[in-house]
Amino acid sequence: MNTRAIRRGGQLTLENALGPGGARTLADDARHGLTRTLKQLPPKHLYDTRGAALFDRICELPEYYPTRTERAILERVADELIAATGAGELVELGSGSAAKTRLLLDAMAAAGTLQRFVAVDVTEAVVRNGAAALTREYPGMHVHGLIGDFERHLDRLPAARGPRLVAFLGGTIGNFDPAARGHFLRNIAGLLGEDDHLLLGTDLVKDRATLEAAYDDAEGVTAEFNRNVLHVLNRELGANFDPSGFHHVAAFDTENEWIEMRLRAREAQEVALPAIGLTVRFAAGEEMRTEISAKFTRKRVAAELAAAGLKLAAWHTDANEWFALSLASRAGS
Ligand code: SAH
Ligand code: TRP
Repeated sequence: MNTRAIRRGGQLTLENALGPGGARTLADDARHGLTRTLKQLPPKHLYDTRGAALFDRICELPEYYPTRTERAILERVADELIAATGAGELVELGSGSAAKTRLLLDAMAAAGTLQRFVAVDVTEAVVRNGAAALTREYPGMHVHGLIGDFERHLDRLPAARGPRLVAFLGGTIGNFDPAARGHFLRNIAGLLGEDDHLLLGTDLVKDRATLEAAYDDAEGVTAEFNRNVLHVLNRELGANFDPSGFHHVAAFDTENEWIEMRLRAREAQEVALPAIGLTVRFAAGEEMRTEISAKFTRKRVAAELAAAGLKLAAWHTDANEWFALSLASRAGS
């Protein structure tokens, strides 16, 4: 077993579901993704410790509206959400630095229901530091940190203790391709008991200029975040990518209604990845897809929830309708 559970003072527990397998998925993903006609890498590899720090900077950028818009909605409706769900336990998938999470925990504390917070993230440092900080800030609460992949390790979640709210914020669901999204939502539906809810943050379709600026800021932080995946490949697989040889591209695909982030080779180049015995050639101008970020409408969210066996219980959005928080429960409960 790769699992390690560490108990400190009864308030904080940690489990690492990744173990050595974390590195193996990068090797497999690189082998498959870089030998395809259209090269691509899954986005979770953008988030090592440096990637997570760059992401936190993105959240502060003037162009990146999703974080502050979602926060404003949460500020307005957190009490209402907790009253509607009666939740005493919050499970956050892809919690990151859990900046917005505190709004929900505060509402739970005010309602007198707060018992436990469970954070799930692939970035070990983020889970460790976040869990430790929250343990200090909410003395009566138990924090459980699960270092793992929310596409593979949801079976490692502890059994629910009373009504549970599963939060998936930040529009991260948009980073799945449509098939993976359906699969993920069905997994969540299987995880929810009758008294449990899903709180889902989705970025909404809007004008192209606003969308593209959010993923291509003037300061170049998002470009650096995108190129970070090359630093990860260099460090983890001994590759010799020259990150400055790749240009950051963010384009809204109006047909699929998603932002696509790519890295475009400035010149023809050859890159070695010794750890997996691979040499990869890039033609000048060739692009590698590093991420999609799908944008939603209310209709699409409701339809995808329904297809997964979930029903939309409440829809909360901002005045511009730029971002939405959906509350969902198991259909039939
Ligand atoms: N919830 C935060 C962070 C969103 S960024 C917010 O709303 O601001 C996406 C987060 O998901 C990052 O912290 C990243 O480390 C994590 N993540 C990405 N892919 C993941 C995966 N497959 N499994 C678990 N966590 C993942
Ligand atoms: N999931 C969020 C989004 O799609 C955060 C994110 C992921 C992001 N990758 C990003 C933000 C790249 C900016 C750039 O918006």
